[in-house]
Amino acid sequence: MAVNNRIADFHNEIAEWRQTIHQHPGLLYDVEETASFVAEKLKEFGVDEIVEGIGRTGVVGVIKGRKSDSGRVIGMRADMDALPIVEKRDLPYKSKYEGKMHACGHDGHTAMLLGAAKYLAETRNFDGTAVLIFQPAEEGGAGGKAMCDDGMMDKFGVQEVYGLHNMPGLPVGEFGIRSGPLMAGTDEFTVTIEGLGAHAAMPHGGNDPIIIATQMVQALQTIVSRNVNPLDSAVVTVTAINAGKAYNVIPQKASFHGTIRTLDKEVRATVHNRMKTILQGIADGFGAKVDVHIKEGYPVTSNHPNETEFAARVAAEIVGESRVQTDQLPVMGGEDFSYMLEERPGAFIFMGNGDTAGLHHEEYDFNDEAISVGSSYWAKIAETAMPAG
Ligand code: NI
Repeated sequence: MAVNNRIADFHNEIAEWRQTIHQHPGLLYDVEETASFVAEKLKEFGVDEIVEGIGRTGVVGVIKGRKSDSGRVIGMRADMDALPIVEKRDLPYKSKYEGKMHACGHDGHTAMLLGAAKYLAETRNFDGTAVLIFQPAEEGGAGGKAMCDDGMMDKFGVQEVYGLHNMPGLPVGEFGIRSGPLMAGTDEFTVTIEGLGAHAAMPHGGNDPIIIATQMVQALQTIVSRNVNPLDSAVVTVTAINAGKAYNVIPQKASFHGTIRTLDKEVRATVHNRMKTILQGIADGFGAKVDVHIKEGYPVTSNHPNETEFAARVAAEIVGESRVQTDQLPVMGGEDFSYMLEERPGAFIFMGNGDTAGLHHEEYDFNDEAISVGSSYWAKIAETAMPAG
């Protein structure tokens, strides 16, 4: 493997940062400890500009190359937040905060980008400006959007933006990427049925919202199977149903909620429309009222073709072409790097985390063996996109 030798030299140091971040997890925007750690390190490395408080608790570091004649500005992004999970494993650097845990490897993402920052600030072997983006609230809080809404892209003149996520199950030293949709758009829905309750032994006196809700849940299954083209992808999953309390009372109300995942705007619109039509039709048929609330979440994470090809080429220079899969299957999870890709061309890549527990699992841990690969990838993105000439 052609990892950067200078970065390999401080592999252990980067692993220590990773473990320090792991011990002090923060949820959503409450990542102050990690954000200060990042800002402190960037200062220590002597980067040219550090701006804190972008997107509430995000941090941006700017490193100018030895020359900046090219006018090129490349953004590289890591996420800093953890998850509300109780860490199971008794690691020497186990989370110090019960109920909070780095179960998605954002500790690794942050440390690897810091590793690249140290190297880039020391060598500056590029012609242009590297913008290092450390964002809060990836896990459902749209921190990426918050940073964009604060004008980050224009403020720093970012022209292209790149992101990376570790992937358990993919061997360390392998990458996966694809042009176009890589991760799903995520929407949440809440359905409330206002019916007519009754005595459980005299059901004809009401219209039983529980029966209505179960009909609805069944009917929603036909959207993916009968309305979406079999060659497209969609998920409609109901994750909770709530109704009633007593054994002998049919309740007045029932509600259920869940998630919608799609990889395409048109499919997304089809799912939303069919959902409203089907639910309203069933409610009308039973003589009940229904309220359908769909909350749009993260957009589809869609990689831009030229930047995808570029990212794959950079990854191949580090690990070899045979270890970069360029036809990675999309996954139906969401990712708020999507907001950055809506503002600027760029690409998101998966990097192998080896044989670890899955993301968001209580036994997950970022694999420190992958650090040199990830930091080398970032360093090479900057050096290749902005060659020193
Ligand atoms: Ni994640």
